[in-house]
Amino acid sequence: MSAPKKLFIKTYGCQMNVYDSERMAEALGGEGYVETKSPDDADMILLNTCHIREKAAEKVYSELGRFKGLKAEKPDLKIGVAGCVAQAEGQEIMRRQPLVDLVVGPQSYHRLPEMEAKAREGEKVLDTDFPEEDKFEKLKNRPKAKRGPTAFLTVQEGCDKFCAFCVVPYTRGAEVSRPADRILREAQDLVERGVREITLLGQNVNAYHGAGPNGDMTLAQLIWELDKVDGLERIRFTTSHPNDMQDDLIEAHGTCAKLMPYLHLPVQAGSDKILKRMNRAHTAESYLRLIERIRAARPDILISGDFIVGFPEETEADFQATLDLVEEVKYGTAYSFKYSTRPGTPAAERPQVDPAEADDRLQRLQALLTKQQREVQDSMVGRDVTVLFEKAGRFPGQMVGKSDYLHAVHVADCDRAIGDLARVRILSSGSNSLAGALVD
Ligand code: SAH
Ligand code: SF4
Ligand code: F3S
Repeated sequence: MSAPKKLFIKTYGCQMNVYDSERMAEALGGEGYVETKSPDDADMILLNTCHIREKAAEKVYSELGRFKGLKAEKPDLKIGVAGCVAQAEGQEIMRRQPLVDLVVGPQSYHRLPEMEAKAREGEKVLDTDFPEEDKFEKLKNRPKAKRGPTAFLTVQEGCDKFCAFCVVPYTRGAEVSRPADRILREAQDLVERGVREITLLGQNVNAYHGAGPNGDMTLAQLIWELDKVDGLERIRFTTSHPNDMQDDLIEAHGTCAKLMPYLHLPVQAGSDKILKRMNRAHTAESYLRLIERIRAARPDILISGDFIVGFPEETEADFQATLDLVEEVKYGTAYSFKYSTRPGTPAAERPQVDPAEADDRLQRLQALLTKQQREVQDSMVGRDVTVLFEKAGRFPGQMVGKSDYLHAVHVADCDRAIGDLARVRILSSGSNSLAGALVD
C-alpha cells in the first residue's frame, strides 16, 4: 500500500467554516488523505476562507503567496481555496494567484474528491455552484473515529435577511434548513463517538424550519428532540437574529435543562436610524424588550452580541445610542468590529465615516464591553457551576473545561477525565478564565 497523502487545512472565519473543514477532511479521507498539522509536508493545502471583512479576504492572498517556495520544491503539491472568498472571488483568485489548482465554494465541497482527481491530472478546477443535491447527505460515509467532547453541527445555512453591510447572503446563498431526522442521526452518531455537547450552527440558526415528521419544525422543537438523545448532555446554538427569536425558543431556555444559559444575539447598533439603514428590521427598543423576555424565562442567561461601529452616516449621537444600549443590556461577552466596505453590498455605495473617527468609537465601545465582560466573569466567583472538561491544563493534575455560561474554567488537583461533567466552585477570576475546585 502506498503511503497516505497528507492534507493541511487552515480555517478562517466562523464556526460554520470549522464544521465545513471537518467535512472536507472526511471527504478527502475517502481518497486516502490524512490530516497534517504543517503545510511543509502536505500533498494538498486547503484554505477555508472568510469574506466577511476586507482584512479577512486579503489574508488569503498573502497566505497563498507564502506557499510559492513549497510549490517550487514540490511540483505535485496541490493548493485549493474553499469557503466564502472562493465563492465570492473564485475567478479572481485563479487569475491573481496562479499557484491555485482548485477553487471550491461552500455549497459544492462534497464534490472535492472528483475535483482533487482532476487537479492531480493537471487541470485547474473551479466549482462555485449552488447544486441541487444535498451536500450533507453526500458526505454521509464518515469514518467512526472517536472525537472530543464538543462538536458543531450545522442545521441551517445561508441567509435571506440582506443586512446592508453583509456578504453572507451572497457567499452562502439562500436560507436552507436541513431535515430534522438527518440532524438527529448525525447527533446520535456524534454522541456514540464521545461527544457530550453539541452546538447547532446556522448563519440564522433560530430561523430553522427543517422538515419533521409532522411538517416543518422550529429550532425549539428540534432542541426538544435532541434533549431525548441519551448521552448528549449539553445543547447550544449560534447565531441568532433578534427577529427570529420565537416564543417557544425563549420558553425552552427556561425549561430545557440541556439547553445552556448562553445566547449570542447580535444587535449591531443602538441607533434606530442606523438599524433601519442596516436593514435590520428591529429597533433598539424591540431588542431590549426581547432581552427582558429572555431574562424573565432564564434570569441567569449570559447574553453575547456583535456590533459594527462606523457604519455609513453614523454620527456621534448614533454611536452614543449604541453605548446606551450596551449599558442597558450588560453583555457577558461581545464581538465588535469597525465597518468594512464589502463590494456588492448596498452600504458600500454610501458616504463613509472618517476611519480615525471609527477607530476611536471602536476603542470606546470595546472598553465598555471589556469592562462588562469582566464584571460578569467576576460575578461567578463564589458560585457553583457545571464544567465539561475538554483538555488537560498546563500544570500537572490541572484540567480545563467550559462552564454552562461558556467561561473557560481551570481546576487544579482534578481527578476527572476529558468528557466528564462536574460541579465546580469558582474561586477566582483571571483575565480570560476562571479558576475553581471540584465540589464533593
Ligand atoms: N449571521 C450572523 C453573523 C454574521 S457575520 C448574524 O446575523 O449575526 C458575524 C458578524 O460580523 C456580524 O454579526 C457583524 O457584526 C460582523 N460583520 C458582518 N459584515 C460586516 C462588515 N461589512 N463590516 C464589519 N463587520 C461585519
Ligand atoms: Fe449577514 Fe444579516 Fe444575514 Fe446575519 S442576518 S448573516 S448579518 S445578512
Ligand atoms: Fe466568514 Fe463565510 Fe462565515 S464570510 S463569517 S466564513 S459564513
